[in-house]
Amino acid sequence: MREIHRLVQRMGPSRLPVLVLGETGTGKEVVARAIHDVGGRGHFVVIDCSSMVGPLMESELFGYSKGAFTGAHNQKLGLLDSADGGTAFFDEIGELPMELQMKLLRVLQEKQFRAVGSVGQRSSNFRVIAATNRDLAAEVQAVRFRADLFYRLNVMRLRIPPLRERREDVPVLIAHFLARDGNGHRLSDEVMASLCSYDWPGNVRELEHVVQQMTAMNSGPWLTPADLPSSVRNAKGDLPSQSMAAKYTAMGTPVDSPVIPLAEIEKRAILDALSYTKGDRTVAAVLLGIGRTTLYRKLKEYGV
Ligand SMILES: Nc1ncnc2c1ncn2[C@@H]1O[C@H](COP(=O)(O)OP(=O)(O)OP(=O)(O)O)[C@@H](O)[C@H]1O
Ligand SMILES: [Mg+2]
Repeated sequence: MREIHRLVQRMGPSRLPVLVLGETGTGKEVVARAIHDVGGRGHFVVIDCSSMVGPLMESELFGYSKGAFTGAHNQKLGLLDSADGGTAFFDEIGELPMELQMKLLRVLQEKQFRAVGSVGQRSSNFRVIAATNRDLAAEVQAVRFRADLFYRLNVMRLRIPPLRERREDVPVLIAHFLARDGNGHRLSDEVMASLCSYDWPGNVRELEHVVQQMTAMNSGPWLTPADLPSSVRNAKGDLPSQSMAAKYTAMGTPVDSPVIPLAEIEKRAILDALSYTKGDRTVAAVLLGIGRTTLYRKLKEYGV
């Protein structure tokens, strides 16, 4: 993270385009915002290239004039207008459809564009930061991404490694999230060891959610392996081969107990559901097959 921080400080003041690469959840948007903040100019405008398609994206990007289409009662400025003087962050740029790649290229070349349904050119002076979890060079090879647009975006590049390639960041990030979300919670050495050896396919976002979940579910201060979500616990790989008794231990029940208390199973099911839905209680209740009020009551029962 120090290395990334150093690059952010260097790239911030420049107005050149930056291409931020990294797997999902590695912190591409965090880094893009940091670069913008170091630059300290104008607004940071997020343009989500994966959520907009065709004509909708065009009017979002470039705005539209009054009467451009049914329902366009007033003129509307586009995202690129809002980015004037600041930064336009093209998130998930690899998802941009071909026809929009061509339009975006023109805008980047000329810094000018036309609102939908208008003939006049408007100009906007923005810095471009683009992010993707795809291998854009390979996309160019596969003719799914325009080479000329790629070269425009790929002026300065910042690659954020996945968390499993920088495990030394895990304790630092945990300390950060505990300080922010915890209530004086502390991790046992065993828990810390599990978290450091886990592969984190969801990267920093997954780690953030795990810490949030553990601190929300346990009043603390000590968090033990029993508090780890099943995704992390089971990933250790040794649990399936262990005896049932050992599994019970991992679930927080004494080794010599032949039976898991129902309350324990219920609590785990609820924790897992909330972990799966990323904390969305409405969806969790549906998955668990209980009403929302019942879920709330049970959460209260378990002191969550
Ligand atoms: N260095 C960091 N310090 C603190 N929090 C971080 C850091 N990196 C990432 N995060 C947190 O992790 C989460 C994911 O970060 P972000 O949204 O920037 O990732 P991303 O690479 O854009 O992910 P995606 O590809 O899924 O869009 C966010 O909640 C963010 O606050
Ligand atoms: Mg993102």
